[in-house]
Parts: sequence; structure tokens; C-alpha cells
Amino acid sequence: MSNGKIHIFDTTLRDGEQVPGCKLNTREKIEIALALENLGVDIIEAGFPISSPGDFESVNEIAKVIGDVTVCGLSRAVEKDIDAAAAALKPARRPRIHTGIGTSDYHIKSKFNSNREEILQRAVQCVKWAKRHVEDVEFYAEDAGRTDNEYLARVVEAVIAAGATVVNIPDTTGYCLPHQYGEKIAYLINNVPNVDKAILSCHCHNDLGLATANSIYGVMNGARQIECTINGLGERAGNTALEEVAMVIKQHNGLGQSLHTRIRSELLNPLSRLVSEIMRMPVQPNKAIVGANAFSHSSGIHQDGFLKDAQTYEIIRPDEVGADDSKIVLTARSGRSALAYRFKKLGYDYDRNDIDALYQQFLKVADEKKEVHDDDLLGMASVHSQEKSFAH
Ligand code: KIV
Ligand code: ZN
Repeated sequence: MSNGKIHIFDTTLRDGEQVPGCKLNTREKIEIALALENLGVDIIEAGFPISSPGDFESVNEIAKVIGDVTVCGLSRAVEKDIDAAAAALKPARRPRIHTGIGTSDYHIKSKFNSNREEILQRAVQCVKWAKRHVEDVEFYAEDAGRTDNEYLARVVEAVIAAGATVVNIPDTTGYCLPHQYGEKIAYLINNVPNVDKAILSCHCHNDLGLATANSIYGVMNGARQIECTINGLGERAGNTALEEVAMVIKQHNGLGQSLHTRIRSELLNPLSRLVSEIMRMPVQPNKAIVGANAFSHSSGIHQDGFLKDAQTYEIIRPDEVGADDSKIVLTARSGRSALAYRFKKLGYDYDRNDIDALYQQFLKVADEKKEVHDDDLLGMASVHSQEKSFAH
């Protein structure tokens, strides 16, 4: 196992772009690739060159404009796919071919109508073929999450011997539990004799909502690359969200193992918005790190604590991830301190008696509306000042 550097492999432009309706043109892909480079990712998977002339062109154009970051193209374990990936990546300063084949019995029997020995040979051949084109070859053992560990270890050993620099252990169907995925990585680290010659990579899907947890268990057990996407976009329920793994590692101080990434966390929210707009894919409001509600407080108990000390209810400062300032949202569950705070922001420095009186008005409005806005508060302030002047 190498040091604690975790390589961030972004696949927004390949696995993320496989989402129906998220298809991008070359110009849009270049814009996102440049933003990913600026964010600090280590590898950009730019596409699947054999899949269409448009994707070939996108990978080729991205390879021209990206500097020191590795640009990667996907292929199946098929020579013409690998040749297309190599051709598209020709202008890249650091090209990587990502090739591989399914290794679970589901894939071996149902998809390929084959057997384990034959698949092992194809795995080795595809790596050797890719090595004729580039030095940096990543092999993926598709459905590794459901592949028998002993067989998987044999495949991993063989592809490393054939020259793979990175071996991807995808939980393609998002089936593994975090401890199982972690144990799989640990098994490979302990049972593959030449494992120190390559980096093991986590590629986790989110079918059970475990993609982030599984990737974290993967790196805690020795993997040194995480494959992920902005906003967790990807096939079906998506892939590991880049913003989540980067912040888990940062907020937990390297997970006790000095793990670290090069991600500039203050760019996470701007990039999330960019990807969401370009891919026309809204971000769910309660999404960790980048959702609209990630820094909003609406219940009275939370608001009171937050206003006394933000750390009572926030573990990340919004500016650390480039989000707007925390919000105090007024609903029927809000309390007096939140109301006083919002009035103060509008220039009304009310005392306790004023707030008591206004709070009754507020509850009536709040019970009728989902959220009480500034114009509602201004209306209440005007009624309140009239009532006060009558009373005098
Ligand atoms: O999920 C998966 O197994 C993949 C491979 C093609 C890497 O996306
Ligand atoms: Zn995938």
C-alpha cells in the first residue's frame, strides 16, 4: 500500500453521462472537464470512445485541452474498443485506457456464456493489448462486488502481472454492505502477491444508498482511488458522490490514516450547480454538501441552538464547500429566537414583548403557509406598529 493520497477519478462525463436525458455535446463536456481539472481531480474519465463518433470527438478534444490531469477513455475487453480509446486519447499528456470485463458468475455465465478460465485469459489479453498503446492501463472487474473473492484475487494478480497500473473493483450493482466491500479490498491486499505494483480502485453504485459508505470502507482497507461523480449522478441510483467522499475524508481528518485528496472543497457547490444546469438534472434539496437545504435550519430547537453557536447543528462551514450562508427558514415549527433574528436582519430590533406579540401573528401565517417570507414579516411589522400606536 502506498501513502495516504487518495486519487479522485471523476466519471461524471462517462458513468454520469449515461443517465437518460444527461447526454452532453463536446462543448459542454469540455466546460465540465476544465472545471474538474480546476477542482483538483486526478483523473477525468472523459467518455467511451467506441460508443459513438460524438463521444470519440469529446474524449479527443478533452485530451487536447487538459494539462497534467490524467484523461481516461473506457473500453470493453475488445481490441477495436481499445484501439478507439487509444486513438481518441492520442493528444493527452497523461492518457489512461480503462478496459475490463465482468468477473461475477452472473456475467460469466449469463452475459458471456463462458467460464472463469476463459474470462481470466480475456482479462489478461485486454490489458496486454492496451499496454501496446499506453503505459497507464486500468482494468475493471465488472460486478466485482458479487464476484467470489478467491477468483477475483486470481484475476487481479494476473492483470497486474500483465501490466495493469490500477485495478478497479466495481460494486456495479450497489449490492455490497460497507463492511463486505471493505473486507473484499482487504482480502485482495492480503492475498494478491503483486498487489503493491498497482493501485486498487473503488467504483461503487448507489442502489442501496451505500455508495459513499462503501467507497470510504474501501479506502480505509487499502484502496487508493475512488471513482465518483459530481452530485452522485450515474446509472440507475447513481455513483459515489465526489463531494461526499471528499468531505468525509476532510471532516474526519484523513480517517485516522492521513488520507487526503487534492480537492479544493470551496469549489464543490459552484461545480455542482454547473453540472446540474448543463446536464439539466436538478439536485435533491436534502442532498449532502450541495443540496439547497444542506445549510438551512427550520425547526425552533435547531434554530435556537444554531443561533447560539453554529457548531451545535453544523459540522461544515458553508464557505468551506462554496455554499451560500446558512439559512434560518421560518415555518410553523420555528421559534421566537429565529423570528427575532429574521426581524433583526430586516432592521427591526424588537424586545421580548414585541416578539411575544408578533409570534402569535406569525404562527397564524405560518400555519397557512409552508414558509414565511420577508414580505410576510414586513406586513406583520406594519400591523404591529399600528397596534402599538393605537394602544398609546
Ligand atoms: O459500474 C461498473 O462496473 C462500471 C465499469 C464499466 C467500470 O461502470
Ligand atoms: Zn459504473
